[in-house]
Amino acid sequence: MTKIRIAVQKSGRLNEDSLKILKDCGISIDNGKDQLKATARNFPLEVFYLRNGDIPQYLKDGVVDIAIIGENVLIEKGHQISIVEKLNFSKCRVSLAVPKTMAYSSLKDFEGKRIATSYPNTVKNYLEANGVKAELHIINGSVEIAPNIGLADGICDIVSSGSTLFKNNLQEVEVILKSEAVLAVSPKISEEGKEILKRIQFRIQSVLEGRQ
Ligand code: PRP
Ligand code: MG
Repeated sequence: MTKIRIAVQKSGRLNEDSLKILKDCGISIDNGKDQLKATARNFPLEVFYLRNGDIPQYLKDGVVDIAIIGENVLIEKGHQISIVEKLNFSKCRVSLAVPKTMAYSSLKDFEGKRIATSYPNTVKNYLEANGVKAELHIINGSVEIAPNIGLADGICDIVSSGSTLFKNNLQEVEVILKSEAVLAVSPKISEEGKEILKRIQFRIQSVLEGRQ
């Protein structure tokens, strides 16, 4: 029998809530975490635990059929991947921030400045659309430390509670986009896959209604 392959974040902020929503859909998955792949006991589904940033490519290549992923990651590197459900968790913003000591007045203040980020395409598009030129430094994590160590003048990263910005003496000055976890679909999904997807979507919709 055909199984649908779903990518879920291996570890990190989306992992727990992603597995929770599948569980609430009545899909039981054996263990997880230590294994990179798991099979559902009572539903035609295989779970692949992957790194967030790798998921858009797996979807594009059709290595997985669907994924639970942050919309921000798809915006950064997942063009041509469609979103079928917004999941109402892992809400965050992708924002620009600068040291609290800087008197910030507008995006023009970033002209010629160095911005550290894990979201280069998102920042680049935003700056270009607003006619501002800046120098981007790509870092994969702990971006907020960059201004404090003299690596950058500002940063662009995910803001959720705001506590990481606060702890690093940064102020959020521009919100580039708002994001939440979504159910995304590979352009290469098979017809049988689409049928199973419909069943999952139906269950997810009931779970989300029940949560309101
Ligand atoms: C994420 C993100 C921000 C922070 C935002 O980092 O990169 O730094 O969370 O959350 P907050 O507004 O609630 O503080 P994470 O802790 O996942 O680590 P990483 O940057 O090293 O990947
Ligand atoms: Mg971080």
